[in-house]
Amino acid sequence: MDAEEERRGFQKGDLEMCRRFAGYLREHLPLLAVAIAAMVGAGAAQVAGPWLIKQGIDQYILPGRFEELWKIAGLFAGALAAAFVCQYVQTAAIGQVGQNVCFKLRDQLYAHLQKLPLRFFDTQPVGRTVTRLTNDIEALSELVSSGVVAILSDVVILAGIVCVMMWMNLKIALMAFLFLPALVFITAIFRARVRESFRTIRLKLARLNAFLNERVQGMRVLRAFNAESETADRHAAVNADHYEAHMDSIRLFAVYNPVVDMISTLSTAVLIAFAARGILAGQMTFGELVAFLAYLEMFYKPIRDLAEKYNILQAAFAAMEKVFGLLDEPAEPAPRLARPVTRFAGRVKFDQVTFAYSKGIDVLERVSFEVGPGERVAIVGATGAGKSTLASLLMGFYRPGAGTVTLDGVPVTDYDPPALRRRVGYIAQEPFMFSGTLAENVTLGDPEVSEDRVRRALTTCGLTASDRVLASRMAERGATCSVGERQLIALARCLVFQPDLLLFDEATAAIDPMTESRLQRAFREVSAGRTTLVIAHRPMTVRACDRILVLHRGRLVESGDHEELLRRGGVYAALFRLEEAAA
Ligand SMILES: Nc1ncnc2c1ncn2[C@@H]1O[C@H](COP(=O)(O)OP(=O)(O)OP(=O)(O)O)[C@@H](O)[C@H]1O
Ligand SMILES: [Mg+2]
Repeated sequence: MDAEEERRGFQKGDLEMCRRFAGYLREHLPLLAVAIAAMVGAGAAQVAGPWLIKQGIDQYILPGRFEELWKIAGLFAGALAAAFVCQYVQTAAIGQVGQNVCFKLRDQLYAHLQKLPLRFFDTQPVGRTVTRLTNDIEALSELVSSGVVAILSDVVILAGIVCVMMWMNLKIALMAFLFLPALVFITAIFRARVRESFRTIRLKLARLNAFLNERVQGMRVLRAFNAESETADRHAAVNADHYEAHMDSIRLFAVYNPVVDMISTLSTAVLIAFAARGILAGQMTFGELVAFLAYLEMFYKPIRDLAEKYNILQAAFAAMEKVFGLLDEPAEPAPRLARPVTRFAGRVKFDQVTFAYSKGIDVLERVSFEVGPGERVAIVGATGAGKSTLASLLMGFYRPGAGTVTLDGVPVTDYDPPALRRRVGYIAQEPFMFSGTLAENVTLGDPEVSEDRVRRALTTCGLTASDRVLASRMAERGATCSVGERQLIALARCLVFQPDLLLFDEATAAIDPMTESRLQRAFREVSAGRTTLVIAHRPMTVRACDRILVLHRGRLVESGDHEELLRRGGVYAALFRLEEAAA
């Protein structure tokens, strides 16, 4: 999270956001109405309590009519029961509305993520996107369940108390509220300070999270380079910042809470002083005094809780902005024609393709080549030459800035993306494994792929296909597999779907000769009879191909077979000699 992103107060866009959020609440109007009715009921029942006590004292206890006291006791019990039922209904109903809104927003966000262009994921930290789906949405649910209704409920109770007190005894009530303006003034100052403090806390917390996230992920490197003590120092600094921010707010509350208590006590003292005279002068009853004392106690409690509710509101506004911001990220444009795909012959053509990830820095420059059906073509080039980028363009992950990438004569971006990707077998340079069984990783959860097909694919790729292997569990990101194994599994993943075109981005990691030969055999099997584009990092793979394309700093500089290119003595010859020397 950026500092910039966090530094905000309520702004004019907030109204717009609230309106949008209200749209989600509108779907649950009946439930919301039930919650609000229950809230008013609970408020009324709570406010009725002290008034009933007053009646009991003035009408039955002081005159000594104890035998009739049960009438008031019954009413009091009734009020208690009503408050209980109403509070139950209110909490359950509003909680349900909050969770429903949460559920819908989460589903919407996840569905939207699936439609966002990959460019988005290149630039956004994973942690931030996940925070949107979890914490931020949680903050919105909190707003519904504890924010809006609790504040409304407080307002109802406060207004109820003021009205009942004034109705019971206007003069004494005014005396009791003598210090109210001072309280409003102090609260306003406090609110401004605490807003700043809460904001700083959130900022420091985000920094702490980001720091921990990165260090835990990079633990292996930290250990390898003995950087523990350096990161411990950095951690201590971030931690101290976080501590200071919290202490600041603790100090604020340490002042505010006693001030509210003091005002409440002063009010009580003033009330008792005036009430004593009032009672003596017959302007006030003893029951009224007891009721007033209870009301004053009730009155100051929500004021003390104010800061917490303010925090919920603040967090919710910040979360709302981020959640809606993510929902408003433009989705990948839908293909114009969305051509149906049955089978591809496998004719690939790059025509004057230029591409840049960020404006002005061309990663590919006017690349043109053609691959015929059934041909096996290797793409080679130095690190950063743009090879993987080429594959991404063919998969339709990105759109070329200029020129066209066609498959069977149609621009790849005109095909329905899922249909295109189903017929093109793509093995990424760093194959990704999901947590689950190996079999699930091969089928990616597609129920149409039979177990038999999975076994055949694994065997073709030189892996054992026993029940134990199929059911073996993979760790997150395939952390428990070697890079070579991951590539073999990825090859099998491609094979079960019988693609028309194979796009293989070979891993750069060094692989032992045994795995190398297993991978080579698997590659030959899988690529037999299919148009194959392989981004090759190993001489053995290159030799298995009919033609070689050489990419150098985003340009296609050479093309031909191994012998031809060696004879030319250009970029390929230089690359090859280096590899031979290294081998
Ligand atoms: N998602 C991205 N966002 C921005 N720049 C990128 C991105 N991916 C790659 N690049 C840049 O584009 C250039 C080409 O990258 P590419 O991954 O295509 O290289 P490569 O030829 O596959 O290299 P290698 O052999 O190391 O895999 C590099 O300079 C890289 O820094
Ligand atoms: Mg690459």
